[in-house]
Amino acid sequence: MVVMNSASRLYAEAQQVIPGGVCASYRTNRALGHPFFVSRGAGAYVYDLDGHEYVDMCMSHGASLLGHNHPAIKAAVARALDLGIICSYDTEYHTALARKIIELVPGAEMVRFAGSGTETVMHAVRLARAVTGRDVIIKFEGHFHGYSDQVYFSSAPPLTAAGPAAEPTPFAQSSGMPADLGDLVVVVPFNDPAALEAAFARRGHEAAALIMEPINYDAGCIVPQPGFVELCRDLCDRYGVLLFFDEVLTAFRMAPGGAQQVLGVTPDLCVLGKALGGGMPISAIAGRRDVMMAFRPVGDCEHSGTYLAHLTTVLAALAALEEYARPGFYARLEVVGRRFYDGFQEIAERKGIPVHLQHVGPRFGMYFGLTEEVTNYRQAAQQDMDMLARFTGGCTVRGAYFHISAHHGFSAAHSEADMDRVLEAVEGAMSDLGAG
Ligand SMILES: Cc1ncc(COP(=O)(O)O)c(C=O)c1O
Repeated sequence: MVVMNSASRLYAEAQQVIPGGVCASYRTNRALGHPFFVSRGAGAYVYDLDGHEYVDMCMSHGASLLGHNHPAIKAAVARALDLGIICSYDTEYHTALARKIIELVPGAEMVRFAGSGTETVMHAVRLARAVTGRDVIIKFEGHFHGYSDQVYFSSAPPLTAAGPAAEPTPFAQSSGMPADLGDLVVVVPFNDPAALEAAFARRGHEAAALIMEPINYDAGCIVPQPGFVELCRDLCDRYGVLLFFDEVLTAFRMAPGGAQQVLGVTPDLCVLGKALGGGMPISAIAGRRDVMMAFRPVGDCEHSGTYLAHLTTVLAALAALEEYARPGFYARLEVVGRRFYDGFQEIAERKGIPVHLQHVGPRFGMYFGLTEEVTNYRQAAQQDMDMLARFTGGCTVRGAYFHISAHHGFSAAHSEADMDRVLEAVEGAMSDLGAG
């Protein structure tokens, strides 16, 4: 069992100068009683302040799909440093990266860049409103699209404040969000065709975009039921609404063209993030040429910023896309994933732990306390969060770091042997759950 002596000390110090002792609220870790402070990362591993090694099953919440400290990303960043730490200037590499994304992502005819996922969604929502001349955004309950006031509604509402199941009440996920903004958001249950049709009948003519996670990892791992994404596409076409895929988490994860390639439905507009930069902060807005041409200076929709597409991140993204294109990249993720998913299932069954595992590619959700397929947020919200916390905490002290969050995952740096180490931790943590 690992004892994180230095973490408690640093936590006490951090809390004196950083609210809550964390630089992002979700880094709080109630399973451990302090944040999971690390000293460094390498490949599939992270190291705590006392030097203990952990197999990382968080992987920067999905950003580090290549593993930590990947040599190609390091070399790209080093090259950008040599070129002068350029920011606020475009280079030939920006065009090369846009070209590469257009080659890979089915819905990408033109591309602009931003930093975080939150930022890129914010710009894309404005673009959708500019193009359609409409203000309303339709979104699914349990789908998360970053923290901007425009869309930070009903991504994880308490069920007591979520409203009727078929017509949820937009729930502001933070204080400080002007209440009136909720009037511009229509929340719909995922995988409910009748509710979606009804929402379009009510507000479709006012809507600029239907935004969705094509695979809803932010509620664990919920896949669209057969025909549902096609219905989204069809309703958008009928009502003149832009179909907007938030692929911040799904981009490049299960295929080079992301979830849109796998699902075979092409959105009008999409955003890409996380894996795009191989651990460096870059995101992209991509979509139909006529939509993208509404950005200034061609159209009149503003999108600008000093740090947009910093060269360190652009070169890192070019390097990451090259790695994803290597033969066998996704096949290997499948093999390693199979080792973990099958092993997890076998241990849970043997130990009699009620948990439903759902996965697509190298990311997954574990619904403790549930034993049937989860198809929407309200089912996911029935999971036993205490059990999840005891499980993730139990794995972490055994050397496999799972953050206490909805989704988890591994990287291309993880081997089958690493997964065996994780499964040993799973075995121990599940034994404790069974005993408790
Ligand atoms: C689907 C989705 N959209 C947007 C975001 C926000 O991205 P970021 O954390 O880079 O701001 C996230 C982050 O978890 C996400 O999963």
